Amino acid sequence: MDQSILFDLKLINRYDKAGPRYTSYPTALELHEGFSDTDYRWHIAKSNRAGGPLSLYFHLPFCDTVCFYCACNKIVTKNRQHAAPYLDNLCKEIAMQGSLFDSSRVVNQLHWGGGTPTFLSDMQMRRLMDVTRAHFNLKNDDSGEYSIEVDPRETHDNTIKLLRELGFNRISLGVQDFDSDVQTAVNRLQSEEQTLSVLASARAEGFRSTNIDLIYGLPLQTVETFSKTLDKILDAEPDRLSVFNYAHMPARFKTQRQIHEADLPSPDVKLAILQMVGLRLTQAGYVYIGMDHFAKPDDELAIAQREGKLYRNFQGYSTHSDCDLVGLGITSIGRVGDAYIQNVKDLETYDRLIHHQKLPVFKGVDLDQDDKLRRAVITQLICHFELNFAAIESQFAIDFAGYFANELEALQLMQADGLLSLSDEGIRVSSAGRLLIRNICMVFDRYLAQKKQQQFSKVI
Ligand SMILES: C[S@@+](CC[C@H](N)C(=O)[O-])C[C@H]1O[C@@H](n2cnc3c(N)ncnc32)[C@H](O)[C@@H]1O
Ligand code: SF4
Repeated sequence: MDQSILFDLKLINRYDKAGPRYTSYPTALELHEGFSDTDYRWHIAKSNRAGGPLSLYFHLPFCDTVCFYCACNKIVTKNRQHAAPYLDNLCKEIAMQGSLFDSSRVVNQLHWGGGTPTFLSDMQMRRLMDVTRAHFNLKNDDSGEYSIEVDPRETHDNTIKLLRELGFNRISLGVQDFDSDVQTAVNRLQSEEQTLSVLASARAEGFRSTNIDLIYGLPLQTVETFSKTLDKILDAEPDRLSVFNYAHMPARFKTQRQIHEADLPSPDVKLAILQMVGLRLTQAGYVYIGMDHFAKPDDELAIAQREGKLYRNFQGYSTHSDCDLVGLGITSIGRVGDAYIQNVKDLETYDRLIHHQKLPVFKGVDLDQDDKLRRAVITQLICHFELNFAAIESQFAIDFAGYFANELEALQLMQADGLLSLSDEGIRVSSAGRLLIRNICMVFDRYLAQKKQQQFSKVI
């Protein structure tokens, strides 16, 4: 499979509009409070009958200091004691959920995300993994995909060794930018030495895949400054790179108001940075996986994409398509069978529900047949940039051209613009269309079309 990208400035400008990142379909916006813990239990029982491996996601929300740009679900506190009652509740939730899933179901994938998971003390991290092991069937032979997000500022000499001992074998480091003015403007002071020494320890301890998170579009960034950051990152040769587009939504994320809007790079500069990133990373031998993610050709994500086995879930791209995803901790989202489930978002409600031995379910959505069909189409396109009509037709017993007549008509325009090519057999996204994959997926999003329609009606 061809994994190249082509940067077409005119096209990108024309299609530059906001849209979902499709870590799920329907997106998290469609989850509703009518979905209860009883519904969740029903889906778990059904999924146990089908069997299969599990993926566990743990949300560890605490951070010591706030990064002004941050759009993650986090709780900023200097008081380390805050984590203790949360961890107690999380352990109870693990026991509760663990008792509902069939114990023969092996955990192929496990992820600690945040916030900052290493905000926890060594003892707390050990306890969390021990309790998980007591209630779920974790692998003991290092063959699972067990990953953790690490803030290099929140590690000490033995942290990486401990994480490896606990069973983690993939690690992602938050960096964002090495430029000291940018770091000051976003309140994230993190030296190169700190970052590089954590990366070196991870390699020395035998972590199999290393990732670095960067963000473009932060205040005071220019093509030159970000290029210098890339020089240093490329020297360090991580297996994967996530280069996120800064999502500036100060109305929604209060701390972003501390960022001076005048310092933000203009849309033209952002595009120039993106172009430089795409060019430099591909020249350095990375392949574009899709949606801000790059990987070395021998990394399992790049291999899975070439072999047609890539999948997308709430943690981004993944190689484990067959797993039910169990979310644990506040705000976490899971996917069990044909339902998405989100936990409550605040510590008080979480504490109250756990205290009453209730699953802390806040929202969910039960997928209908149309959702499942569109999810399969969107997942296939966002992961593999091509879609075979016959495969979808046989999986869902539909006539693709008839079912998606309107969508195929909309794609004609994209074909004329060079984003993709349509044939009787299927859709193939071009090298220029890859950077605009979410626009292509949006064509198949029924909820987005309804929302647009509603907005349109209001205007009239
Ligand atoms: C939970 S954090 C990573 C772990 C750890 N807390 C850290 O910062 O090192 C997840 C990542 O989301 C990205 N991120 C956070 N806020 C963002 C925003 N507003 N726009 C784009 N990316 C963002 C950052 O790259 C960050 O590393
Ligand atoms: S980027 Fe990471 S460390 Fe910074 S506030 Fe967000 S979650 Fe916390």
